[in-house]
Amino acid sequence: MSELIDPFGRRIEYLRISVTDRCDLRCKYCIPEGFTDFEEPGHWLSFDEMERLIRIFARLGLKRVRLTGGEPLLRKNMSELAGRIAAVPGIEDLSLSTNATQLEKHAAALKAAGVTRLNVSLDSLRPGRIERINGRPAHDKIMAGIAAAKAAGFAPIKINMVALDGDNDDEIDAMVAWCMEQGFILRLIENMPMGDTGRNVRYLNLQPVKERIRQRFGLVETVLPGGGPARYLGTADGRFTVGFITPISQHFCATCNRVRLTVDGVLHLCLGQEDRFELRPLLRSGATDDEIVQTILGAVAKKPERHEFREQPQKLVRFMSMTGG
Ligand code: 5AD
Ligand code: SF4
Repeated sequence: MSELIDPFGRRIEYLRISVTDRCDLRCKYCIPEGFTDFEEPGHWLSFDEMERLIRIFARLGLKRVRLTGGEPLLRKNMSELAGRIAAVPGIEDLSLSTNATQLEKHAAALKAAGVTRLNVSLDSLRPGRIERINGRPAHDKIMAGIAAAKAAGFAPIKINMVALDGDNDDEIDAMVAWCMEQGFILRLIENMPMGDTGRNVRYLNLQPVKERIRQRFGLVETVLPGGGPARYLGTADGRFTVGFITPISQHFCATCNRVRLTVDGVLHLCLGQEDRFELRPLLRSGATDDEIVQTILGAVAKKPERHEFREQPQKLVRFMSMTGG
């Protein structure tokens, strides 16, 4: 049973929660270097508030939750939060997106707490490039984090690489080969014009890349169960897949099944639109569950049909870490 159906007939069963807007990296397409205007701690939703919202969403048919940021592992006690969310009736799948810098010490606890799937952002395998693209010399920590996740038994691990013309486009094939060897699912992502940072890097059209990789590695079209917007290619034996997240060259809004919650309790209906609903004031003024349900239903009824990254690239002021990737 789901009551979360938007005006375009899309069933909303997936919530992405940003647990912090802070990050220890400064990816050139995301947080501006020197940015200090982060959300104040007093506005951060507490774990109790997050759990309450998830329980309410789950009653309305929510099935999947992803914890994201900023860098979610900068928030303290994340495995406690993971355990609380995993225990909510109706939630079948709990995943985490991380840059892996802090993953080495948390991987095992997150797995034990019930995180089922892990996405790691990784734009390059080269230390110097990571420093240039991601703004910090974090290569060794990231690799240690990924190794710890593997050792903790996360499988499959997804590697997310934002493809940037002139920055890492020449490394895509090497990343495919590495993920094949490591047993990771690779997802190549087209950069979105979110904020000035998102607009200041050069987007790479992944359609020709997809064709090239298909031929070079002998891949065929594949479908991943539960797979979101990515279109996948894989080896015939199913042991390796690579997905293409192509918001610019071929958007996938028609099958969008998600909404997003920011650390300060704002519900965003679309990554690429400004529509937002404040839930924090309700949570902190003693609203009943039914009042919150009404606000959520009202919000879903206003979910925009699609983003307009291509038609209106200047539209979005907020960059990715403000909403949650
Ligand atoms: N375009 C596409 N992806 C982005 N991310 C951050 N900013 C952008 C952008 N402008 C990605 C990160 C990470 C996830 C959290 O969001 O690389 O994989
Ligand atoms: Fe941090 Fe992710 Fe933004 Fe990079 S893309 S600065 S890792 S939040």
